[in-house]
Amino acid sequence: MNIDIGKDNIKIDLSNIPNHVAIIMDGNGRWANSRNLPRHLGHQEGMKRVVEIVESANKIGIKVLTLFAFSTENWKRSKIEIDTLMNLLVVFIRKEIRRLSENNIKICILGNINSLPVNVIKEVNIALEKTKNNDGMILNIALNYGSRIEIVEAVKKIIYDYDKGLIDLSQLNEENFKEYLYTKNQPDPDLIIRTSGEKRLSNFLTYQAAYSEFYFSDKYWPDFDSESFLDAIIDFQNRDRRFGGV
Ligand code: FPP
Repeated sequence: MNIDIGKDNIKIDLSNIPNHVAIIMDGNGRWANSRNLPRHLGHQEGMKRVVEIVESANKIGIKVLTLFAFSTENWKRSKIEIDTLMNLLVVFIRKEIRRLSENNIKICILGNINSLPVNVIKEVNIALEKTKNNDGMILNIALNYGSRIEIVEAVKKIIYDYDKGLIDLSQLNEENFKEYLYTKNQPDPDLIIRTSGEKRLSNFLTYQAAYSEFYFSDKYWPDFDSESFLDAIIDFQNRDRRFGGV
């Protein structure tokens, strides 16, 4: 079955939808600068695209959508910008939680939320609780997320389990190592999108991205609308994935 995305002769093949799409939503600051606006307005506009793209992803049957909202490195930003981002997350949860729930979407957090402001932890926990039994699309919000620390933490958990006699090291392999990552029980990302012309992974899903396809857009995140997102999916559908085979 095909879905028309409103462009002449461009259709999405609904039988070949990536299971997991992860997005590095980059360029909010530059979007604002290019309009002589303060950076926080770039993040605010970026949040509108979050709402739009969550809806599109759900509509076409993506199983897992991961959004990189705040990295372990983003603490280096000014207090006002950090506060803006945290506040946007709270607003997003408050405004969208009902709709997300009605659409059977389950929210998961990738990252360590313990060092976030108390009101953010509270709101995130409400969202996790309210959506925990939903079995539709998983919406991963990468929050205070860093891939290297995720891997280090996984190794620590393995050593802990080993000390307790819970695992046998000879049984540890590439697949069950994944059970120690934040993305436990989830498929690896098939497609990673990064906006704003930057072509880096920036400490995002390093272990999980071993066989991901990459899609780079020159658009700043606030300009990356649902049509741009569907273009990325169509581009993915034309890739030849060999996973090391021929
Ligand atoms: C990168 O742009 C973007 C971020 C660090 C934050 C992304 C957050 C949102 C889009 C809003 C909240 C998200 C959710 C899931 C509710 P940048 O500031 O690094 O842009 P620049 O490189 O142009 O400065």
